[in-house]
Amino acid sequence: FNVPVPVNEPVLSYAAGSAERKLLQQALQSALSTEADIPMYIGGKEIRTGNRFAVRPPHNHGHVLGYYHYGDKSHVQAAIDAALAAKSAWEDLPWEQRAAIFLKAADLIAGPYRYRLNAATMLGQSKNAYQAEIDSACEIVDFLRFNVKYMAEIYSQQPPVSPRGSWNRVEQRPLEGFVFALTPFNFTAIAGNLPTSAAMMGNVVVWKPANTQVYSAHVLMEVFREAGVPDGVINLVYVDGPEAGDVIFKHPDFAGIHFTGSTAVFQNIWKTIGENIHRYRSYPRIVGETGGKDFILVHASADVKAASTAIVRGAFEYQGQKCSAASRVYIPRSLWPEIKDRMLQDIASFKVGPVEDFSNFVNAVIDEKSFDKLANYIDGAKADPDAEIIAGGTYDKSKGYFIYPTVIVAKRPDYVTMCEELFGPVLTVYVYDDEQWEEMFEVIDKTSIYALTGAVIAQDRYAISQATHSLRHAAGNFYINDKCTGAVVGQQPFGGARGSGTNDKAGSMINLLRWVSPRTIKETF
Ligand code: NAD
Ligand code: ALA
Repeated sequence: FNVPVPVNEPVLSYAAGSAERKLLQQALQSALSTEADIPMYIGGKEIRTGNRFAVRPPHNHGHVLGYYHYGDKSHVQAAIDAALAAKSAWEDLPWEQRAAIFLKAADLIAGPYRYRLNAATMLGQSKNAYQAEIDSACEIVDFLRFNVKYMAEIYSQQPPVSPRGSWNRVEQRPLEGFVFALTPFNFTAIAGNLPTSAAMMGNVVVWKPANTQVYSAHVLMEVFREAGVPDGVINLVYVDGPEAGDVIFKHPDFAGIHFTGSTAVFQNIWKTIGENIHRYRSYPRIVGETGGKDFILVHASADVKAASTAIVRGAFEYQGQKCSAASRVYIPRSLWPEIKDRMLQDIASFKVGPVEDFSNFVNAVIDEKSFDKLANYIDGAKADPDAEIIAGGTYDKSKGYFIYPTVIVAKRPDYVTMCEELFGPVLTVYVYDDEQWEEMFEVIDKTSIYALTGAVIAQDRYAISQATHSLRHAAGNFYINDKCTGAVVGQQPFGGARGSGTNDKAGSMINLLRWVSPRTIKETF
């Protein structure tokens, strides 16, 4: 099939004095000086309920960026009805026309919407300009363009054999019913990918974003509409998660969930689906990318500069709120003094503050709930003889939810912050005796329920191959001599197993295949 050959969207640098920095600053100014009124979108209509909630930048919670209109169960029902009404026309559309709509959406984001969407991500989710650019400009554009390529490949796959007198073929039908896209706060790209990947394959979607991501979600929805996504194909509702679930999971036409978020929420959803299984026409597709406790394992042969850079960038970019963020590292005693010095120097150079000042590397965590949770872990470490805080350990929520980049050294590899997902700029280090290298594989494997990302830093080829083999179930994305964040669509399909999800690799053919139900046809002549 002749679809455009995708290339990764280039990352703009926003260097001081550049034209792109000026345009981004204008978009930030415009967002800061406007009070947005954000509707839900159901069946192509903008819905304003009057039950409005404020959107506030996490780094400046005294400022109101706008208000979004909150819905209830009746809006979830209306979104399902609108989706089902749009279904037959959408699935009958030739796939090339669906592809064209999403390629146009990619071009709109890469072009005229780039600065507005980046500004919305920066202000609404407290991402610095670079972190916003790799998310809400590049990653979402890559998802859309590469998924169109994978989609074309899926439609072109046919059984290789049709004996004379017959023709065997496979028709990739959309799922019967509607898909529920339930999305997290931390990546605008993921929020955009979950509804569009299902819709691309001919499905109709009810999309509920996290309340803390509504500000950029509604800009994405404007893009989808301008690109030509027909009314009712993607319906965007802002409602309480359990309330939405109560309507969705009892509906006979519920055909699948595309989820990214925490493990506990996903496990509850799976249970609810199980309890309601008798109601559904088909077994629903359950696709979930969930939590992580991502690791970096350093070997005694490692380049210390590479190791310390991978650790601090992996741990503190976007305040450690990437599902892939390094949050536990294992360092050999022989290298610890040098790596520690380098890490502490790097951390001391990180400026902490609001996103409008482009020199700030670390911004605020997403909300007060997250701030309080992280502060609790930090206070716990301060009071615990099994832990020592060697950097940060301070926090301040007077203006924004700022947690200073914190490093805890744990005396036990099963110390609580070595095992649980904290989701913030708090890194825990365990220093092992060099001869314990092989023991670390089991420690990493057994002390956390997650298996999302991980990295080994080593020069010794045998050590690399040992770690790659022994840790093969401990991470769905494994990096050798690199940080454990920053998977690029089209290069490293992303996802993990165990407590980290169903490993249906976002940005891959594997994922798109979950949104079709193939019919095999044999015709005899
Ligand atoms: P979350 O689980 O709190 O929320 C995710 C979505 O579920 C939101 O839309 C939320 O409103 C909704 N929700 C919450 N409780 C619900 C309930 N009881 N019923 C129905 N819906 C409910 O997650 P978050 O805080 O937005 O995101 C952070 C989490 O997401 C972290 O655990 C992170 O590791 C994970 N994450 C994983 C990946 C991955 O690829 N594995 C990527 C990004 C984020
Ligand atoms: N692409 C994001 C990362 O790997 C999810 O950090």
